[in-house]
Amino acid sequence: MNVMVIHGPNLNLLGSREQAVYGPATLDEVNREMVTEADALGIEIEVHQSAREGEIIELLHSGIGRVAGVLLNPGAYSHTSRAIADAMRAVSFPVIEVHLSNIHAREPWRARSVTAGAAAGIVAGFGPGSYIAGLHALKRLVEA
Ligand code: DQA
Repeated sequence: MNVMVIHGPNLNLLGSREQAVYGPATLDEVNREMVTEADALGIEIEVHQSAREGEIIELLHSGIGRVAGVLLNPGAYSHTSRAIADAMRAVSFPVIEVHLSNIHAREPWRARSVTAGAAAGIVAGFGPGSYIAGLHALKRLVEA
């Protein structure tokens, strides 16, 4: 089973960015933990990071006919991007929205995700564990 992971804007700075909110792990460390878990689950993952809305949309399109599902952390595009939401609806596979932080426990504007309604489900608030939980949820969903 092939799964694509897409990290959105500013997530390349994990480890130094707002540590009190996002924790000390770097993106490489988060990805390594995910690869280890994916191996144990029999999932092959490809990982991307992009700050560009259009590139995230093109990455979603590139999964058509190729991946069983996507884990997507749209970063702040979650709160603004109807275009990413449309792309999530346009593809044939499930997209799980992932957030490191609990977006409902922060500034009020973060509580609204315009992309969440296009997701198969969302996982938020568990730090890097959100991606791990997302992998399990995706496998369960695809195999159901
Ligand atoms: C985030 C939450 C967003 O509100 C924020 O803009 C991010 C990261 C998270 O993973 O908690 O960049 O998506």
